[in-house]
Amino acid sequence: MSNPSAPTSSLPLQRRPRRLRRSAGIRGLVRETRLSPEQFIYPLFIVEGAGVRREVPSMPGVFQLSADEAVAEARAAYGEGVPAVLLFGLPAHKDEVGSSAEAPDGPVQAATRLLKQALPDLVVVTDVCLCEYTSHGHCGVLRGEEILNDETVARLVGAALSHAKAGADIVAPSDMMDGRVAAIRAALDAEGFEQVAIMSYAAKYCSAFYGPFRDAADSAPQFGDRRRHQMDPPNIEEALREVEMDLEEGADIVMVKPALPYLDVIARVKDTFGHPTAAYQVSGEYAMVKAAAAHGWIDESRAMMESLIAIRRAGADMIITYYAREAARLLRRG
Ligand code: PBG
Repeated sequence: MSNPSAPTSSLPLQRRPRRLRRSAGIRGLVRETRLSPEQFIYPLFIVEGAGVRREVPSMPGVFQLSADEAVAEARAAYGEGVPAVLLFGLPAHKDEVGSSAEAPDGPVQAATRLLKQALPDLVVVTDVCLCEYTSHGHCGVLRGEEILNDETVARLVGAALSHAKAGADIVAPSDMMDGRVAAIRAALDAEGFEQVAIMSYAAKYCSAFYGPFRDAADSAPQFGDRRRHQMDPPNIEEALREVEMDLEEGADIVMVKPALPYLDVIARVKDTFGHPTAAYQVSGEYAMVKAAAAHGWIDESRAMMESLIAIRRAGADMIITYYAREAARLLRRG
């Protein structure tokens, strides 16, 4: 006997996806993508001197650090489960051709030596580019307003070698010159550094999201922009060609950058090549969340974790993120 006043009982549904969302335990069992601190690479900005720890105004929580302070910061991150750092250098002296990029005692080289001494198991990745080292802020050697590709590659090779000599585990060319991966690979091998890996910024787009970084690294171009060497945002087939070339030239890890606005590129790159793939959650992605959170407009922890998991879900094996420590701490707390 049915009771006409009772709520209509079950719809004739075979499948009820909500069953698997009912509790934290069940959600955990069916979770498809996981985030772990061991997938994070933590960028550090290294300045000359000692005892320097200067916050970057457009990137709250990010500091320009002298090498000794970088060791303290990396030690703390390592203790929180972050296995790797990515070093950028702010040299005391800049010139037209970025010659200090290969100085044996430059900030990146000095910090690399100190870090490997203090924390031998920490993975030290070094950014290889000239923009922080040139007086004009461009990524290479100029003739007029044109960046000369092959002359620039020769200088990048010098920088990469100096990083390897200082003990870098991985060198990461971010310049987007043609042929630099092959040139760096050949030079590393010739000098006995065949074990040093290359993480190439393979699909690096010309992006507005790098704005805060250029404050942090003091690398804004004095004139013009980077669209004649960085990729045009509407293109994805071209990204696949860039990645293919870098892999052929000897890249061990390929990177897509920025991350969140380019999830489709990450997915295509990972699906197409199946090689270790990194994504860079860049300064603007970080600054946007920080700024909205500071206004109380967004829940920072949730937005941070949702962005990071989205980048992993798209296919990134590892994420370069200014949030490495905060996210690692949150993951540890569970
Ligand atoms: C170039 C370089 C840039 C970034 C990493 N490497 C800046 C640029 O291409 O202008 C940006 C990283 C970020 O925004 O967090 N050396």
